[in-house]
Amino acid sequence: MKAGLLCAVLAMAQVPAPKDPAKELFEGVCSGCHTLERVKIQHRSKQEWRESTAAMIDQGAVLTPEETNMLLDYLVKNFGPENEQ
Ligand code: HEC
Repeated sequence: MKAGLLCAVLAMAQVPAPKDPAKELFEGVCSGCHTLERVKIQHRSKQEWRESTAAMIDQGAVLTPEETNMLLDYLVKNFGPENEQ
């Protein structure tokens, strides 16, 4: 019993370093219909990203409200207006 539990813990420890779930969402969901490049070249405010994300959901992107919020934070952090060059 104990050994089995230890194995399970060890198996979990072998999973690669925890990734950023927001990044996973972005890379998983937003690459579904077009390249991620298409998204990365944009620089938008949170409000603008909110609208874009809603538009993508209209197109068929599947995101729960929680995922949408997580993704919005990620988008603004990485592709927000302050990163504009
Ligand atoms: C169900 C399909 C689908 C998914 C999933 C999807 N998109 Fe899109 N996206 C489209 C379509 C269709 C277009 C329209 C333009 C085209 O590709 O010609 C587009 C265009 C865009 C554009 C450029 C047009 C614009 O708004 O200026 C951005 C930015 C964008 N998507 C962001 C995202 C993000 C962020 C995600 C992840 C949440 C995402 N997309 C996921 C279908 C999708």
